Amino acid sequence: QDFETILLERKGRVGWITLNRPKALNALNSQVLDDVIAALDELEVDAEIGAVVITGSERAFAAGADIKEMQPKSYMDMFLDDYFARWDRLAQFRKPTIAAVAGYALGGGCELAMICDLLIAADTAKFGQPEIKLGVIPGIGGSQRLTRAIGKAKAMDLVLTGRNMDVEEAERAGLVSRIVPADQLLDTALEVAETIASMSLPVAMIAKESVNRAFETTLAEGLRFERRVFHSLFAIEDQKEGMAAFVDKRPAKFTNR
Ligand code: HXC
Repeated sequence: QDFETILLERKGRVGWITLNRPKALNALNSQVLDDVIAALDELEVDAEIGAVVITGSERAFAAGADIKEMQPKSYMDMFLDDYFARWDRLAQFRKPTIAAVAGYALGGGCELAMICDLLIAADTAKFGQPEIKLGVIPGIGGSQRLTRAIGKAKAMDLVLTGRNMDVEEAERAGLVSRIVPADQLLDTALEVAETIASMSLPVAMIAKESVNRAFETTLAEGLRFERRVFHSLFAIEDQKEGMAAFVDKRPAKFTNR
């Protein structure tokens, strides 16, 4: 299937989504959202796919939600559309996701990157939530995910001043999984995605779900959830295979069963 605003590729077991509105620095309009959701729907049911990378261009991962699309809208337009709510589809995507970020990741772009499970950034990446300069606030989870990722002190600084942070600051603050030189961004993202996709897919999905529980619940409930699903893994074939392979001193051959 061809998309208007993204490119969808399959690189072995890795699904690869490239945001592709270069003239608007990949600003996230409704068409981008439709295209990303359609691509995710395909990749979710594709048994060959074990991880997904979302990336942009060298200049911009995404410079935000599309300001020109939002400008004429009324409160009732936004409310009745439940504008931005459909981005929850990405948060609910069950396979591991990696944002590979170069250049601007501002506003909705930063929020999109934060919804992904890992954030691999080029040394050119710039992050920010500049919505306040437009007379609004983050609307795709920025005030919540940024605060959980980097804490109140820095989240308040970014959300209230609208300033950008460079990649070193973003890594120190805990927003970024890894920094790589810009010319190695895509190779590194692919390598990490391939590594994840070489694991047992159901186990990777359960690992992702379990880490994400940490953001939703108390420590006691989170630990209980982890223990329950940990025990349940002993009912699957890939646990038998993984541990047998270790004992036999050979690489594991997972079957996603
Ligand atoms: C629509 C955008 C855009 C955006 C850039 N463009 N960002 N269009 N929505 N978010 C368009 C520009 O209008 C311009 O189109 C083209 O992309 C190139 O951008 P320039 O500004 O000419 O590039 P440059 O001078 O290099 O500056 C790059 C930039 C700047 C610093 C990233 O574009 C910028 O500040 N963009 C807005 C960033 C922002 O505020 N993001 C948050 C959006 S609100 P033309 O046609 O003129 O060539 C959001 C949260 C939503 O994301 C939640 C609140 C409801």
